[in-house]
Amino acid sequence: MSVPRRDTRPYEADDPLLDLVGDTPLVRSPTNQNVLCKLETENPTRSMKDRVAMGILVEASSEYDFDTVVEASSGNTAGAVAFVANRLGLECHVTCPETTSQQKIGYMKAFGATVHLCPSVDEEHSEHYHSVAKDLVDEHDAFFVNQYENQANPEVHYRWTGPEIWQQAGETMTHLVCAMGTGGTLSGAARFIKERAQERDADVNIVGVDAENSNISAAFDGSEYGEYDTEVEGLGKGRELPTMWFEYIDEVRNVSDDRAFEQARSAAVDHGLLIGPSAGAALSVSHDIVAEEPDSTVVAVVCDGGEQYFQTLFGSDNRSDE
Ligand SMILES: Cc1ncc(COP(=O)(O)O)c(C=O)c1O
Repeated sequence: MSVPRRDTRPYEADDPLLDLVGDTPLVRSPTNQNVLCKLETENPTRSMKDRVAMGILVEASSEYDFDTVVEASSGNTAGAVAFVANRLGLECHVTCPETTSQQKIGYMKAFGATVHLCPSVDEEHSEHYHSVAKDLVDEHDAFFVNQYENQANPEVHYRWTGPEIWQQAGETMTHLVCAMGTGGTLSGAARFIKERAQERDADVNIVGVDAENSNISAAFDGSEYGEYDTEVEGLGKGRELPTMWFEYIDEVRNVSDDRAFEQARSAAVDHGLLIGPSAGAALSVSHDIVAEEPDSTVVAVVCDGGEQYFQTLFGSDNRSDE
């Protein structure tokens, strides 16, 4: 069955399931009429990391000869890499901190990846999940996705997510808001949107969202690093990474963990929009922008869905509420 494709689709895999990655909807947020939500929850493993895994692996497999892929990730990227590797017929090893949630490990195992759980130790330690990944790459002569350093991570969003958002909202958007981890999603999309806006002598404000106790905002404004500490998965980092293209970002705002969780809860309970806490943080910042500038139209990237956080967000278990 042939599926009509948008001209914004840069990676071809000729696979019925990989064809489901991308082309995600942009919908008016039920929480605020000036906010549009880019629902990356509609990707097969429910996050925008499917784009990164697919873009990087499809390109790499056309350039290099390998049959094993390795990734170090505490969450969505590992599940996405496991899914894409499965469809491309590649063996997959993922390394994760032992604190990684059951739901996220579920994605990795469901798609047949070998999961290596690593102790929570300093980054320099040989048992840290980054070091273990590097050892596995050597051992299996594998391709390393390496989302924290690979420039192909933001480039995928420059070639794919940015054009999609521009096609859906380029006429009206005044701001783009997205949570930052590696910074790949925001950086790549921002670069494309800035370039297109400039062709029209216009501008779109690019706003990164960081956790309260994180150092992305410190790196962005040149202030001193503090202790990195957040419960919001995917949000924040201890230091600047090469995948953060600050030159395309106008502002980075901090959101407390409580506010991020509360916003995600309220989006579901009060409005039927099931989103993860990092999207809750992005939505909070979007609401602030609309309050400050009532004529704005804000595109907020919903990085992942709330079903990975049922337990954390809603305390769901198999007991009755009565
Ligand atoms: C849930 C969630 N939100 C936000 C992010 C940040 O995305 P990026 O790494 O593209 O900055 C991630 C990254 O892992 C994530 O998993």
